[in-house]
Amino acid sequence: MKAAYLACGGWIASAVGVAASLGVADLLAEGPRQAADVAAATGVHAAPLASLMRVLAAVGLFAETPDGAFANTPDSESLRTDHPQSVRAWCMLAAGDYQRLFHAMSHTVATGEPAADSVLGETLYSYLRHTPAAADVYDRAMEDLARPLAGVLAASRDFSRVETVVDVGGGRGTIVRGLLRAVPHLRGTCFDRPDVCDRARADVEPGLRDRLAYRGGDFFESVPGGADLYILKNVLHNWDDERAVAILRPIAAALREVEHGRLLIIEPVIGGGMGGLYKALDDLLQLVICEPGATPRSADALSGLAVQAGFRVTGVQALPSGHTVVEAAAARA
Ligand SMILES: C[S@@+](CC[C@H](N)C(=O)[O-])C[C@H]1O[C@@H](n2cnc3c(N)ncnc32)[C@H](O)[C@@H]1O
Repeated sequence: MKAAYLACGGWIASAVGVAASLGVADLLAEGPRQAADVAAATGVHAAPLASLMRVLAAVGLFAETPDGAFANTPDSESLRTDHPQSVRAWCMLAAGDYQRLFHAMSHTVATGEPAADSVLGETLYSYLRHTPAAADVYDRAMEDLARPLAGVLAASRDFSRVETVVDVGGGRGTIVRGLLRAVPHLRGTCFDRPDVCDRARADVEPGLRDRLAYRGGDFFESVPGGADLYILKNVLHNWDDERAVAILRPIAAALREVEHGRLLIIEPVIGGGMGGLYKALDDLLQLVICEPGATPRSADALSGLAVQAGFRVTGVQALPSGHTVVEAAAARA
């Protein structure tokens, strides 16, 4: 029976995605509501909504009350937009655009190529560039995954002598915002594709606005200079070795201009603290979703890429979040 249920896993994923997109957990925040009530509030049909909610209640994501209403559970609370560790956007992406690509997994298995070209007719980032609603979900989904790390990173090292941090491919700036909140003297820049920065800038909390900048650009060309700490989190993960080295080179060039500067490459790595289903799914995602040639790497493999790009590796640290940090400084002649 297990195989038969697992084969319906995509139905459950779609139910989670629809509930997340409609904001059902937000609507249940004040207490249980009938499906008809939630359907009226979201402009959808009550019968299919009740049916999908019953499936989600059966797997424990929501609960059905004796009078047939639906209520949040501790798990569905994390679908609320205002939950401190919300995964609402991640669920919308995983069950939405990513699920579309996973439907073409047989293409990946047959050809060894990622699915984006065969499903979207272009790479994921080029699709996101001209599909702003999908891009906003993607950015917020990356934020959902990055949020738990922001505090962990701030507590993991001494930032007292760091003045300026640049998060390269920093998305909505989740990590850099977390660091600025924790380290009051720090100034930061989130560097990402111009449209990502334009969307994120508007949402920065007033208390950080004078210390945080967003800079749009292309990390293959150059990165903002003058910082003494650069971060690359889950960025090299998307690219093959040649492109990964091409991303690292402009950072090495920027760090050669400052004294005591460091780069932190932060990823889940082979043999690191993320194991089991999480790492297995992440490895599969790299092959199906990421750019051609993206591959799981060990800390040694990441260190090797850094050395090729003009760095010397100064440390490797495991974080309680399961991520591994490869710390590097620009090699000097
Ligand atoms: C997997 S996401 C990681 C985001 C963030 N570092 C995190 O961990 O949440 C990769 C990021 O790289 C950015 N990116 C992709 N191509 C880029 C480019 N050529 N120049 C700058 N940023 C780029 C994407 O927009 C995206 O925000």
